[in-house]
Amino acid sequence: MPSPTDRPTDRDVIVREVGPRDGLQLVKETLPTDTKLNWIKAEAEAGMVEFEVCSFVPPHIITQFADARAVAGRAVEEIPGIRVMALSPNIKGAEIAFEVGVHAMNYVLSVSKTHNEANVRRSREQSILDFAEIVKIRNADPKLKDIKIGVGLATALGCTLEGDVPEKDALGVLEEVLAAGADEVLLPDTVGYAHPTQVRSLFRKALDIAGDVPIITHFHDTRGLGLANVYASLEAGAKHFDASLAGLGGCPFAPGATGNIVMEDLVFLLESEGLKTGIDIEKLRAAREIVEASLPDEPKHGRILKAGLPKGFKPATNLIAAE
Ligand code: COA
Ligand code: ZN
Repeated sequence: MPSPTDRPTDRDVIVREVGPRDGLQLVKETLPTDTKLNWIKAEAEAGMVEFEVCSFVPPHIITQFADARAVAGRAVEEIPGIRVMALSPNIKGAEIAFEVGVHAMNYVLSVSKTHNEANVRRSREQSILDFAEIVKIRNADPKLKDIKIGVGLATALGCTLEGDVPEKDALGVLEEVLAAGADEVLLPDTVGYAHPTQVRSLFRKALDIAGDVPIITHFHDTRGLGLANVYASLEAGAKHFDASLAGLGGCPFAPGATGNIVMEDLVFLLESEGLKTGIDIEKLRAAREIVEASLPDEPKHGRILKAGLPKGFKPATNLIAAE
């Protein structure tokens, strides 16, 4: 069986559930560790193979992640076959990720200098140097060699503090993190400012620069253009897409940012386009029910599971073979 650090090869595109991290980071009510794990398990049963399960941040900054070590450690131990990722915003967070033994970590820095200072309390240049240091720590220890190190370039498509973020700035930082050894790079629309023409242009150039290094999309639906932006990134050649179940999500330092794009609707779009995601949309319902029952006061988004699949809908993923 391939290691969870390898991506399955029988899918045309990879969707990644970031709800247990991005979806929960603004939610005041703390979800019990078991509930988080039950959610992840239920979604794994629908075919999901990649999860960002928590952030390694100080508990006084985001109390929701006070149980991060337990969530990540138990997800690795108890849910076979999935890639367990955690967000680490600094060297200390990366060291915790290495200690816990996650399959992948996502570092974060912002293209917008003001957002970087607000989010991680250091200059963008320092954040890039720290990222290079994290890659060095991983490379120096043979026990850590299989851990993938990704980096999200927050505000790559716009910033609530600075407004427009020039494309050349995002591409410049991309080149720096590739040179530092990133295994994959996210170009998130952290605050939901992006529009399709902008996305198509940035992803075409970024995919070209990155070569074999995956460039991952991460859209928020704050202004209703989330799935339109997915489509534009598909046209540019993107193959990796973040989303969260029921569209939970937001950034504490991006005022007004609302949910990630809705996982269920993203899978429907991709399958409708003939792209195998490996996910059974109907089976996502069980995971959604866990989120609905445990977070009754949070807004839940999404159309496809409310409306139901179109009569006679044939997903690209062969669900019978997947049984
Ligand atoms: N996990 C746990 N504890 C950590 C930590 C981490 N990743 N990083 C730092 N700490 C601890 C330090 O050990 C120190 O503890 P002490 O006071 O007992 O000595 C304390 O926190 C302060 O450390 P410092 O390095 O000064 O951190 P900071 O206060 O400058 O905060 C970040 C830096 C990166 C930890 C903080 O800004 C942060 O968590 N940002 C992430 C925000 C986020 O998640 N945004 C959403 C994602 S886009
Ligand atoms: Zn996000």
